[in-house]
Amino acid sequence: MLKFKNVKGESGMKIIKIEDNLWEQAKKYFEDIIREQMERVKKISSDTEFIDFTKLRPIKIGFVGGDGIGPYIVDEAKRILQILLKDEIEKGNVIFKDIEGLTLERRIKEMKPVPDDVLEKIRECNVFLKGPTTTPKAGEGIPNIESANVFLRKEFDLFANVRPVKVLNEKINWIFFRENTEDLYALGSKGIEFENTFGIDFRLISYAGSRRIIKMAFEYAKNNGFKRVTAVNKANVIKTTDGIFLKVFYEIARDYPEIQADDWFIDIMTAKLIDVKRRSEFQVFVLPNLFGDILTDEAAEIQGGVGTAGSANIGSKYAMFEAIHGSAPRMVQENRQHYADPSSIIKAASMMLEYIGFQSIAKKIDMALDVANQFERKVVITGRNDGATTREFGDYLLSLIVDPKLEEKYDEFINA
Ligand code: IPM
Ligand code: MG
Repeated sequence: MLKFKNVKGESGMKIIKIEDNLWEQAKKYFEDIIREQMERVKKISSDTEFIDFTKLRPIKIGFVGGDGIGPYIVDEAKRILQILLKDEIEKGNVIFKDIEGLTLERRIKEMKPVPDDVLEKIRECNVFLKGPTTTPKAGEGIPNIESANVFLRKEFDLFANVRPVKVLNEKINWIFFRENTEDLYALGSKGIEFENTFGIDFRLISYAGSRRIIKMAFEYAKNNGFKRVTAVNKANVIKTTDGIFLKVFYEIARDYPEIQADDWFIDIMTAKLIDVKRRSEFQVFVLPNLFGDILTDEAAEIQGGVGTAGSANIGSKYAMFEAIHGSAPRMVQENRQHYADPSSIIKAASMMLEYIGFQSIAKKIDMALDVANQFERKVVITGRNDGATTREFGDYLLSLIVDPKLEEKYDEFINA
């Protein structure tokens, strides 16, 4: 964050005294931002070649623990994958890499969102499963480093944050396509404070950035039997940026006449998600970054808590899979890390398997998670010692996954 320290605007003063070269500084600052973004948008417009990870063998999967409960739940997910992918690993088709060091301590010590050596190791993988990382917020007394998540999404241009939410007994089957690199996040660490007077943050939405996420949402709908795509926005107030998003949305919708396209303002959308009578009518959502951040936490809560939802961060050359929740440092402080719920990271792991071409294993993990968390609930995690441990829950899931009657059981529950 840049501080134009030479501006004094104390209350009661009529004239803001502008000293030195404020205007030059401000102009240069804004100019640099615009140049950088022009460059970025140009790049994304020409980046249309996606690696097909279902065909890439051997494929390298990185496991990045993160902070707080991160390493514990990532370990559990890895243990399960190791068992399920045993043959593929033995044949050398799948390679696992442990990547250590993405911790808050290291980030603070090096004053970087991701230490260089960690970044290099991630770059050597094709896809990676990442545990939550603690994000310092302004004013917390921790140096104001950029969030590791936000940095990784931008660094690898992981523009699509895909978050599915299912509530089976209500027939809710939502999938959110959250734009992941723009909006208030693009320049979130580049706001300006005119000292003690006011601050400005920048919201950026590009045509190319909107196009690629919206197209992905419609393509997904088309290929997976969904009949409706809903764009979430606040174009009645934030006219320029959300105006672009909506314009692109309806342009693209024209190529998909068989799919119903509609748009809702973010405020009423958050209300509709708790409207039990209507919410299951929504199917695919596409949203700018911050609205997507907020709405997907709400949706996950409806599914059973943020601890149950997984997410994929997709780019053309890399993909990162993660839980949607934070690092829960309090659980570690209170020595409860072994009771952490691994559901969301295991859901992320199943999304990863689907993305890299192991659809049938992914499907089994999904069914096992649903049976375990939404129906059978034989082993229940509470986050405390009155519930199961992470490992016990993992064993329960494994027993469901390998059960030849899993699908039958699942159908039975669904149709009950
Ligand atoms: C998420 C998280 C992140 C975000 C935070 C940790 C920066 O809330 O993945 O939804 O805001 O995107
Ligand atoms: Mg969030």
